Amino acid sequence: MALEQAIITWIHLICSAIWVGGSLFIAIVFAPILKTMVPTMEERLQIMIKVGRRFNKIAVPALLILIATGIWNSKEFLGNPGYLMSSSYGNMLIIKMFLVVALLASFAVHVRIIRKDIEEKIMKKEFDEKQIKKLRKKIIIVGEITVVLSVLILLFAAILDAGL
Ligand code: HEM
Repeated sequence: MALEQAIITWIHLICSAIWVGGSLFIAIVFAPILKTMVPTMEERLQIMIKVGRRFNKIAVPALLILIATGIWNSKEFLGNPGYLMSSSYGNMLIIKMFLVVALLASFAVHVRIIRKDIEEKIMKKEFDEKQIKKLRKKIIIVGEITVVLSVLILLFAAILDAGL
């Protein structure tokens, strides 16, 4: 039914806006402003972890709903592996799904770096400057990979939409 499809696409788009828009906002707007306003790296990391935790409350459900509605969008193809492998649309969908799996992996690593015991040590200022620097670098690299993968997924959504 067309209305049903429109509603699913709408939900897919809202969740995409939350996930990709939110990540880009943190990377492009929030992080640079924080750098100019909070002089110590340790305090910036503390604030960023709090922002990340708060964002995840909406971002993680959005990502899960993206996957569920994405599978719904792909149901004809997923039920027909031959078509998935032999058509250009199917191939692009496979790449998009592969990128989503890579995104889940990088996000899992990102969250794992800042697990509870590490967060507590940061909040209690138990790390020395060298350890904080190393931790920050790891979080930034994996965070950047996550954002780049999200933007790439949008490219494949556009390719699917255009029917290339
Ligand atoms: C981070 C995860 C994802 C993001 C940001 C995302 C984003 C988008 C966007 C913006 C669209 C355009 C709306 C449209 O044209 O219908 C779209 C469409 C679509 N998405 Fe996703 N998506 C994600 C995950 C998935 C997953 C996991 C699947 C499949 C299992 C999927 C399958 C589709 C399909 C089939 C379409 C319709 C394309 C068409 O127009 O033919 N998406 N997605």
